[in-house]
Amino acid sequence: MALSIMKMRSSKTLVFYPGTNKVTACNFLTRSVFECSPEVVGLLASWDEWASAAEIARAHGWSKADLNAIVPQLLDFSALVTAGSPLAEQETQFSGQWGWGLPTALMHFCVQDSEFMTIEQAEARQIERAGHVAQPDLLLRNAADAIRLPDALADNELLTLMARRRTNRTAAAPTITLRQLSDCLFAGMGITGETRNCVGALPLGMTPSGGARNPYEAYVVALGVEGLEPGVYHYSAAEHDLGRISANHLPKISELVGGQEWVDAMPCLVLLCARLDRTMWKYEDANAYRVVLIEAGHIGQNMMLAATRHGLSACPTAALSHSEIKRLLGLDRLTDAPVYALTLSTPEPDPHSAGHSIN
Ligand SMILES: Cc1cc2nc3c(=O)[nH]c(=O)nc-3n(C[C@H](O)[C@H](O)[C@H](O)COP(=O)(O)O)c2cc1C
Repeated sequence: MALSIMKMRSSKTLVFYPGTNKVTACNFLTRSVFECSPEVVGLLASWDEWASAAEIARAHGWSKADLNAIVPQLLDFSALVTAGSPLAEQETQFSGQWGWGLPTALMHFCVQDSEFMTIEQAEARQIERAGHVAQPDLLLRNAADAIRLPDALADNELLTLMARRRTNRTAAAPTITLRQLSDCLFAGMGITGETRNCVGALPLGMTPSGGARNPYEAYVVALGVEGLEPGVYHYSAAEHDLGRISANHLPKISELVGGQEWVDAMPCLVLLCARLDRTMWKYEDANAYRVVLIEAGHIGQNMMLAATRHGLSACPTAALSHSEIKRLLGLDRLTDAPVYALTLSTPEPDPHSAGHSIN
């Protein structure tokens, strides 16, 4: 179809911020960032309904030649969307499904599928920065007259276990046991009760959840779990069982976590994916987005402690390859959000071999 008669409109997922003589625009769904003139912002503002370039030229006094020059670029930047395109469909989903407003959407979608630095690059950046910007204090101490508290670890099994938790990115054995995996999953996700509110039953679990909405589902990429066929599984917290969800291909698990190579030696990866709509359904304010993220920390910590109890290390990572994970797990809704992941392994005993961090 000729460009001049194709129906288009400005994207509904654009945000703008001013700069000197230019406006920077960002389409947060496509993560396209570009600069444009204030006149182009005006053009996009007036092109908010499906219309052809010819119709816009007539209605808003743009010359056809100017529009013909600029429209292909605006389509490239996804500032303009064509009717019936996959992007138009994505925007329809966004306006139908996203309830937490544009600032939260900007944050959420712009941090999907980030590119992560290698360890060498991250170290070079830190060394360079340390050369001209002093690091902020990483611990705040009180004055000498502070009130001394009792020794926390003396005669306290729970705190002693908690104090043993350590991130270790090594695997001394190629497998973990099904019991170990099962306990970690239950510690983080297990359902232990039920309550009711004005609209029905709400599950209660091992970790607190804002409004008992329980937005998380856990998935397991099992490569070396004794008694479990290598594969991808969904953990049903309701039934405390594993359902196989994908039999055809097992990815290199580093590809799910921003290319962190140490992960490929791990027998098992647990992926925590939020179903944002569960929390959004009740809480319309954007603060609920923070609630969902905080909950991942509670779940992860419980899993890490259960792992520690079994002599395992659970290494957490938030460096996720969101699209890869969603593809693998068959999660295709805009409100399905991989948030956190943990590897499980029996660590090398040497405390100096904790492995490398991406950050
Ligand atoms: C939210 C979060 C994200 C993390 N992401 C990564 C990561 O991407 N890669 C990694 O190797 N370690 C990651 N870590 C692990 C930290 O590097 C580790 O916790 C830190 O070095 C302190 O060590 P410890 O866990 O033994 O106390 C992450 C930890 C947290 C809490």
